Amino acid sequence: MIHIPVLQKEVIEYLNPKKNENFIDATIDGGGHTKEILKRNKPNGKVLGIELDNDIFKKLKKERIERLVLINDSYINLKKVILKYNFKPVNGILFDLGMSSWHLEESKRGFSFLKNETLDMRYDKNNKLTAEKIINNFKEEEIEKILKEYGEEKFSKRIAKEIINERKRKPIKTTFDLINIIKKAVPKEYQYRKIHFATKTFQALRIAVNDELNNLSKVLPETIDVLEKNGRLVIISFHSLEDRIVKNFLKENERKKILKILTNKPITAQREEIKRNKRSRSAKLRAAIKI
Ligand SMILES: C[S@@+](CC[C@H](N)C(=O)[O-])C[C@H]1O[C@@H](n2cnc3c(N)ncnc32)[C@H](O)[C@@H]1O
Repeated sequence: MIHIPVLQKEVIEYLNPKKNENFIDATIDGGGHTKEILKRNKPNGKVLGIELDNDIFKKLKKERIERLVLINDSYINLKKVILKYNFKPVNGILFDLGMSSWHLEESKRGFSFLKNETLDMRYDKNNKLTAEKIINNFKEEEIEKILKEYGEEKFSKRIAKEIINERKRKPIKTTFDLINIIKKAVPKEYQYRKIHFATKTFQALRIAVNDELNNLSKVLPETIDVLEKNGRLVIISFHSLEDRIVKNFLKENERKKILKILTNKPITAQREEIKRNKRSRSAKLRAAIKI
Protein backbone atom coordinates (compact mmCIF):
# COMPACT_ATOMS: atom_id res chain seq x y z
CA MET A 1 0.00 0.00 0.00
CA ILE A 2 1.28 3.44 -0.93
CA HIS A 3 1.28 6.20 1.67
CA ILE A 4 -1.19 8.89 0.61
CA PRO A 5 0.46 12.29 1.14
CA VAL A 6 -1.36 14.38 3.74
CA LEU A 7 -2.25 18.07 3.15
CA GLN A 8 -0.54 17.93 -0.25
CA LYS A 9 -2.12 21.12 -1.62
CA GLU A 10 -1.32 23.03 1.57
CA VAL A 11 2.30 21.80 1.65
CA ILE A 12 2.81 23.16 -1.86
CA GLU A 13 1.04 26.42 -1.03
CA TYR A 14 3.31 27.10 1.96
CA LEU A 15 6.57 25.76 0.54
CA ASN A 16 5.76 27.64 -2.65
CA PRO A 17 8.38 25.92 -4.83
CA LYS A 18 9.60 27.94 -7.80
CA LYS A 19 11.83 27.38 -10.78
CA ASN A 20 15.33 26.14 -9.82
CA GLU A 21 14.81 26.33 -6.06
CA ASN A 22 16.17 23.62 -3.72
CA PHE A 23 14.20 21.86 -0.99
CA ILE A 24 14.79 19.37 1.77
CA ASP A 25 12.21 16.68 2.44
CA ALA A 26 13.39 15.54 5.88
CA THR A 27 10.98 12.56 6.07
CA ILE A 28 10.63 11.53 2.43
CA ASP A 29 9.06 8.04 2.72
CA GLY A 30 7.50 7.22 -0.69
CA GLY A 31 8.21 10.75 -1.92
CA GLY A 32 4.58 11.84 -2.24
CA HIS A 33 5.32 15.48 -1.42
CA THR A 34 8.73 15.47 -3.09
CA LYS A 35 7.28 14.44 -6.44
CA GLU A 36 4.97 17.48 -6.38
CA ILE A 37 7.88 19.78 -5.47
CA LEU A 38 9.95 18.36 -8.33
CA LYS A 39 7.19 19.22 -10.80
CA ARG A 40 7.54 22.85 -9.77
CA ASN A 41 11.26 23.50 -9.30
CA LYS A 42 12.29 22.46 -12.83
CA PRO A 43 14.63 22.53 -14.67
CA ASN A 44 17.52 22.67 -12.19
CA GLY A 45 15.98 22.73 -8.70
CA LYS A 46 16.75 19.73 -6.50
CA VAL A 47 15.31 17.94 -3.51
CA LEU A 48 17.46 16.43 -0.79
CA GLY A 49 15.34 13.59 0.60
CA ILE A 50 16.14 12.04 3.96
CA GLU A 51 14.67 8.71 5.11
CA LEU A 52 15.66 6.86 8.24
CA ASP A 53 14.09 3.51 7.38
CA ASN A 54 16.44 1.49 5.23
CA ASP A 55 13.66 -0.63 3.66
CA ILE A 56 11.71 2.46 2.58
CA PHE A 57 14.92 4.12 1.38
CA LYS A 58 15.79 1.13 -0.82
CA LYS A 59 12.31 1.03 -2.37
CA LEU A 60 12.40 4.72 -3.30
CA LYS A 61 16.00 4.51 -4.55
CA LYS A 62 14.82 1.99 -7.17
CA GLU A 63 12.58 4.65 -8.70
CA ARG A 64 15.69 6.61 -9.79
CA ILE A 65 13.94 9.97 -9.53
CA GLU A 66 15.72 12.77 -11.37
CA ARG A 67 16.96 15.80 -9.37
CA LEU A 68 16.47 13.91 -6.10
CA VAL A 69 19.45 13.39 -3.80
CA LEU A 70 18.26 10.52 -1.62
CA ILE A 71 19.93 9.83 1.74
CA ASN A 72 19.41 7.02 4.25
CA ASP A 73 19.96 8.85 7.54
CA SER A 74 18.11 10.55 10.38
CA TYR A 75 17.00 14.14 10.02
CA ILE A 76 18.84 14.83 13.26
CA ASN A 77 21.99 14.81 11.10
CA LEU A 78 20.52 17.52 8.86
CA LYS A 79 23.51 19.87 8.99
CA LYS A 80 26.05 17.10 8.49
CA VAL A 81 24.16 15.73 5.49
CA ILE A 82 23.87 19.18 3.90
CA LEU A 83 27.59 19.76 4.33
CA LYS A 84 28.51 16.35 2.98
CA TYR A 85 26.45 16.80 -0.19
CA ASN A 86 27.14 20.53 -0.41
CA PHE A 87 23.39 21.06 -0.81
CA LYS A 88 22.74 24.79 -1.03
CA PRO A 89 21.01 27.17 -1.15
CA VAL A 90 18.11 25.69 0.85
CA ASN A 91 14.83 27.44 -0.09
CA GLY A 92 12.51 25.28 1.97
CA ILE A 93 12.37 22.38 4.40
CA LEU A 94 9.48 19.97 4.94
CA PHE A 95 8.87 17.63 7.88
CA ASP A 96 5.95 15.22 7.63
CA LEU A 97 6.40 13.49 10.95
CA GLY A 98 5.77 10.03 12.32
CA MET A 99 5.29 6.75 10.58
CA SER A 100 4.32 5.79 7.08
CA SER A 101 1.28 3.69 6.11
CA TRP A 102 3.90 1.15 5.03
CA HIS A 103 4.95 0.73 8.66
CA LEU A 104 1.43 -0.11 9.71
CA GLU A 105 0.51 -2.29 6.77
CA GLU A 106 3.64 -4.03 5.60
CA SER A 107 6.68 -3.66 7.84
CA LYS A 108 5.78 -6.61 10.14
CA ARG A 109 7.34 -4.66 12.99
CA GLY A 110 4.40 -4.45 15.35
CA PHE A 111 3.27 -0.88 14.64
CA SER A 112 -0.37 -1.94 14.23
CA PHE A 113 -2.59 -3.33 16.97
CA LEU A 114 -4.63 -5.02 14.25
CA LYS A 115 -1.86 -7.45 13.32
CA ASN A 116 -0.12 -10.05 15.46
CA GLU A 117 3.56 -9.24 15.03
CA THR A 118 6.71 -9.01 17.15
CA LEU A 119 6.95 -5.90 19.30
CA ASP A 120 9.65 -4.03 17.40
CA MET A 121 8.41 -0.56 16.30
CA ARG A 122 11.80 0.71 15.08
CA TYR A 123 12.18 2.87 11.97
CA ASP A 124 15.92 2.23 12.10
CA LYS A 125 16.94 -1.40 12.48
CA ASN A 126 20.31 -0.31 13.94
CA ASN A 127 18.49 1.24 16.87
CA LYS A 128 19.24 -0.90 19.95
CA LEU A 129 15.91 -0.15 21.61
CA THR A 130 12.73 -2.01 20.62
CA ALA A 131 9.20 -1.99 22.05
CA GLU A 132 9.85 -5.52 23.32
CA LYS A 133 12.83 -4.29 25.35
CA ILE A 134 10.81 -1.49 26.90
CA ILE A 135 7.94 -3.82 27.80
CA ASN A 136 10.12 -6.59 29.20
CA ASN A 137 13.01 -4.70 30.80
CA PHE A 138 12.00 -1.19 31.84
CA LYS A 139 10.89 -0.51 35.41
CA GLU A 140 7.19 -0.15 36.15
CA GLU A 141 7.54 3.62 36.81
CA GLU A 142 9.40 4.09 33.53
CA ILE A 143 6.72 2.29 31.52
CA GLU A 144 4.00 4.25 33.28
CA LYS A 145 5.80 7.51 32.47
CA ILE A 146 6.15 6.61 28.78
CA LEU A 147 2.44 5.74 28.48
CA LYS A 148 1.41 8.85 30.35
CA GLU A 149 3.71 11.37 28.68
CA TYR A 150 3.87 10.09 25.10
CA GLY A 151 0.42 8.49 24.93
CA GLU A 152 -1.51 10.72 27.32
CA GLU A 153 -3.01 7.38 28.41
CA LYS A 154 -5.15 7.90 31.49
CA PHE A 155 -4.82 4.27 32.56
CA SER A 156 -1.02 4.30 32.31
CA LYS A 157 -0.59 3.18 35.91
CA ARG A 158 -2.91 0.21 35.59
CA ILE A 159 -1.46 -0.87 32.26
CA ALA A 160 2.14 -0.61 33.53
CA LYS A 161 1.23 -2.68 36.59
CA GLU A 162 -0.41 -5.39 34.49
CA ILE A 163 2.63 -5.51 32.16
CA ILE A 164 4.89 -6.16 35.17
CA ASN A 165 2.56 -8.88 36.51
CA GLU A 166 2.40 -10.65 33.17
CA ARG A 167 6.08 -10.51 32.34
CA LYS A 168 6.91 -12.24 35.61
CA ARG A 169 5.08 -15.26 34.23
CA LYS A 170 6.49 -15.18 30.71
CA PRO A 171 8.14 -12.68 28.34
CA ILE A 172 5.74 -10.46 26.39
CA LYS A 173 6.62 -11.02 22.74
CA THR A 174 3.84 -9.94 20.39
CA THR A 175 1.37 -7.14 19.76
CA PHE A 176 -1.53 -9.46 20.61
CA ASP A 177 0.15 -10.43 23.93
CA LEU A 178 0.30 -6.73 24.74
CA ILE A 179 -3.28 -6.07 23.66
CA ASN A 180 -4.55 -8.82 25.95
CA ILE A 181 -2.66 -7.23 28.84
CA ILE A 182 -4.08 -3.77 28.12
CA LYS A 183 -7.55 -5.30 27.87
CA LYS A 184 -7.17 -6.82 31.33
CA ALA A 185 -5.90 -3.55 32.78
CA VAL A 186 -8.47 -1.03 31.53
CA PRO A 187 -12.16 -0.75 32.52
CA LYS A 188 -14.74 -2.45 30.30
CA GLU A 189 -16.25 0.85 29.07
CA TYR A 190 -12.83 1.88 27.75
CA GLN A 191 -12.91 -1.12 25.40
CA TYR A 192 -16.03 0.02 23.62
CA ARG A 193 -15.10 3.59 22.75
CA LYS A 194 -14.57 4.97 19.27
CA ILE A 195 -10.80 4.87 19.51
CA HIS A 196 -9.27 1.45 20.12
CA PHE A 197 -8.16 0.95 23.72
CA ALA A 198 -4.59 0.11 22.62
CA THR A 199 -4.12 3.23 20.44
CA LYS A 200 -2.43 5.38 23.07
CA THR A 201 -0.15 2.66 24.37
CA PHE A 202 1.02 1.84 20.85
CA GLN A 203 1.60 5.52 20.04
CA ALA A 204 3.57 6.00 23.26
CA LEU A 205 5.81 3.00 22.63
CA ARG A 206 6.52 4.06 19.05
CA ILE A 207 7.50 7.56 20.16
CA ALA A 208 9.73 6.18 22.91
CA VAL A 209 11.45 3.57 20.73
CA ASN A 210 12.28 6.15 18.05
CA ASP A 211 12.90 9.04 20.46
CA GLU A 212 10.62 11.11 18.24
CA LEU A 213 10.00 14.14 20.44
CA ASN A 214 13.65 14.65 21.36
CA ASN A 215 14.65 14.30 17.72
CA LEU A 216 12.16 16.97 16.70
CA SER A 217 13.32 19.36 19.44
CA LYS A 218 16.94 18.84 18.40
CA VAL A 219 16.48 19.35 14.67
CA LEU A 220 14.28 22.45 14.64
CA PRO A 221 17.03 24.95 15.61
CA GLU A 222 19.25 23.52 12.86
CA THR A 223 16.66 24.37 10.22
CA ILE A 224 17.16 28.07 10.90
CA ASP A 225 20.91 27.82 10.34
CA VAL A 226 20.54 26.14 6.98
CA LEU A 227 17.58 28.02 5.47
CA GLU A 228 18.20 30.91 3.09
CA LYS A 229 16.62 34.29 3.76
CA ASN A 230 12.94 33.96 2.71
CA GLY A 231 13.31 30.19 2.98
CA ARG A 232 10.17 28.36 4.12
CA LEU A 233 9.75 25.80 6.89
CA VAL A 234 6.69 23.54 6.80
CA ILE A 235 5.96 20.96 9.49
CA ILE A 236 3.10 18.46 9.67
CA SER A 237 2.60 16.81 13.04
CA PHE A 238 0.12 14.16 14.13
CA HIS A 239 -0.35 14.61 17.84
CA SER A 240 -0.56 17.36 20.39
CA LEU A 241 2.89 16.84 21.91
CA GLU A 242 4.64 17.25 18.57
CA ASP A 243 2.47 20.21 17.67
CA ARG A 244 3.31 21.92 20.97
CA ILE A 245 7.06 21.59 20.28
CA VAL A 246 6.59 23.05 16.79
CA LYS A 247 4.34 25.87 17.97
CA ASN A 248 6.69 26.93 20.77
CA PHE A 249 9.71 26.81 18.48
CA LEU A 250 8.03 29.00 15.86
CA LYS A 251 6.74 31.49 18.43
CA GLU A 252 10.10 31.82 20.16
CA ASN A 253 11.83 32.54 16.85
CA GLU A 254 9.17 34.97 15.76
CA ARG A 255 9.78 36.87 19.00
CA LYS A 256 13.49 36.97 18.16
CA LYS A 257 12.58 38.25 14.67
CA ILE A 258 14.23 35.26 13.02
CA LEU A 259 11.07 33.71 11.61
CA LYS A 260 7.70 35.01 10.52
CA ILE A 261 4.84 32.60 11.16
CA LEU A 262 2.58 32.04 8.13
CA THR A 263 -0.09 30.01 9.91
CA ASN A 264 -1.70 31.75 12.89
CA LYS A 265 -3.64 28.62 13.62
CA PRO A 266 -2.51 25.16 12.51
CA ILE A 267 -3.90 24.11 9.14
CA THR A 268 -5.97 20.93 9.28
CA ALA A 269 -7.41 18.66 6.60
CA GLN A 270 -10.76 19.45 4.97
CA ARG A 271 -13.64 17.05 5.34
CA GLU A 272 -13.13 15.73 1.80
CA GLU A 273 -9.52 14.78 2.50
CA ILE A 274 -10.41 13.10 5.80
CA LYS A 275 -12.98 10.98 3.94
CA ARG A 276 -10.33 9.89 1.43
CA ASN A 277 -7.54 9.41 3.96
CA LYS A 278 -8.27 8.76 7.63
CA ARG A 279 -4.69 9.48 8.57
CA SER A 280 -5.17 13.16 7.70
CA ARG A 281 -7.70 13.50 10.53
CA SER A 282 -5.10 14.37 13.15
CA ALA A 283 -2.65 16.25 10.90
CA LYS A 284 -1.66 19.82 11.82
CA LEU A 285 0.45 21.92 9.49
CA ARG A 286 2.42 24.95 10.66
CA ALA A 287 4.65 27.05 8.44
CA ALA A 288 7.08 29.96 8.76
CA ILE A 289 9.42 31.99 6.62
CA LYS A 290 12.97 33.00 7.55
CA ILE A 291 13.35 36.73 7.80
C1 LIG B 1 4.55 10.38 7.47
S1 LIG B 1 5.86 9.66 6.61
C2 LIG B 1 6.22 10.84 5.33
C3 LIG B 1 5.33 10.72 4.12
C4 LIG B 1 5.80 11.49 2.90
N1 LIG B 1 5.88 12.90 3.18
C5 LIG B 1 4.88 11.26 1.71
O1 LIG B 1 3.93 12.04 1.56
O2 LIG B 1 5.08 10.29 0.96
C6 LIG B 1 7.21 9.88 7.69
C7 LIG B 1 8.51 9.20 7.28
O3 LIG B 1 9.56 9.72 8.08
C8 LIG B 1 10.47 8.68 8.37
N2 LIG B 1 11.21 9.08 9.57
C9 LIG B 1 10.85 8.96 10.87
N3 LIG B 1 11.80 9.47 11.67
C10 LIG B 1 12.78 9.93 10.88
C11 LIG B 1 14.03 10.58 11.12
N4 LIG B 1 14.45 10.83 12.37
N5 LIG B 1 14.78 10.94 10.06
C12 LIG B 1 14.35 10.69 8.78
N6 LIG B 1 13.19 10.07 8.49
C13 LIG B 1 12.42 9.70 9.53
C14 LIG B 1 9.59 7.47 8.55
O4 LIG B 1 10.32 6.28 8.35
C15 LIG B 1 8.51 7.69 7.48
O5 LIG B 1 8.86 7.06 6.29
